[in-house]
Amino acid sequence: MDYETVIAERQGAVGIVRLNRPKALNALSRQLVAELNHALDGFEADAAIGAVVVTGSDKAFAAGADIREMQPLTYVGVYQDDFVAAWERLSRLAKPTVAAVAGFALGGGCELALMCDIVVAAETARFGQPEITLGLIPGAGGTQRLARSVGKAKTMDMVLTGRLIDAAEAERIGLVSRVVPAEALMVTALEVATRIAGLSRPAVLMAKEAVNRAFETPLAEGIRTERRLFHSLFATEDAREGMAAFAEKRPPAFRNR
Ligand code: CAA
Repeated sequence: MDYETVIAERQGAVGIVRLNRPKALNALSRQLVAELNHALDGFEADAAIGAVVVTGSDKAFAAGADIREMQPLTYVGVYQDDFVAAWERLSRLAKPTVAAVAGFALGGGCELALMCDIVVAAETARFGQPEITLGLIPGAGGTQRLARSVGKAKTMDMVLTGRLIDAAEAERIGLVSRVVPAEALMVTALEVATRIAGLSRPAVLMAKEAVNRAFETPLAEGIRTERRLFHSLFATEDAREGMAAFAEKRPPAFRNR
């Protein structure tokens, strides 16, 4: 399918969605979010895809919600439409997601990165929640996911002042997984995603599900979920194969079942 504001492509078992509104620094218009979601639905349904990379341009991953589009919105309108609920699609993808971030990841752009499982950042990346400077607050999980991933001190600093942080600080506080030189960004993100896509699909999906429980449940409940998922993997052919391959000192041949 041809999109106007994103580019969807694949490399081997990895789906790639590139946000592509260069004139607006990939601001997240309704159209862009709808096209992003359509591309994500396609990759989720495609058995040949094992992981998804979401990226932007050298200058911007995404500069946030489209402020021009938001300007005329009213309280009743955004309430009735449940504005930004559609953005959550990325956070509900069962398959692992890697954000490859260069340049600005601001507001909703930072929130999209936070919805991904692994964030690889170029040294040029800058993260921020500047909504407060517009008289707003983050609306796509920024106050919640950021607090869970970097804690109260840095979240309050970013959300209350709108201060941008660079890639080094983002890595130090745990907002991003890895920082690489700008020219190595896509290679690294694709390496990470390709590695994950080559592992046992049921194990990968359950690993993601289990880690995500840590953010939604008390510890005892999360531990129980982990134990049940761990037990269930003993029913998969892939776990037999993985353990046999280790014992036989050969690489495993996973068949995703
Ligand atoms: N919405 C709409 N258009 C945007 C945009 C946005 N979020 N961010 C940038 N643009 C547009 C600019 O209007 C400009 O367009 P024109 O050339 O037509 O004027 C173009 O992109 C280039 O931007 P700048 O000229 O401003 O580029 P810069 O390099 O000088 O500055 C920037 C870059 C610091 C990112 C600046 O553009 C900026 O501050 N953008 C807004 C960031 C922001 O406040 N994001 C939060 C949005 S609210 C939100 O996301 C809510 C939520 O949580 C759900």
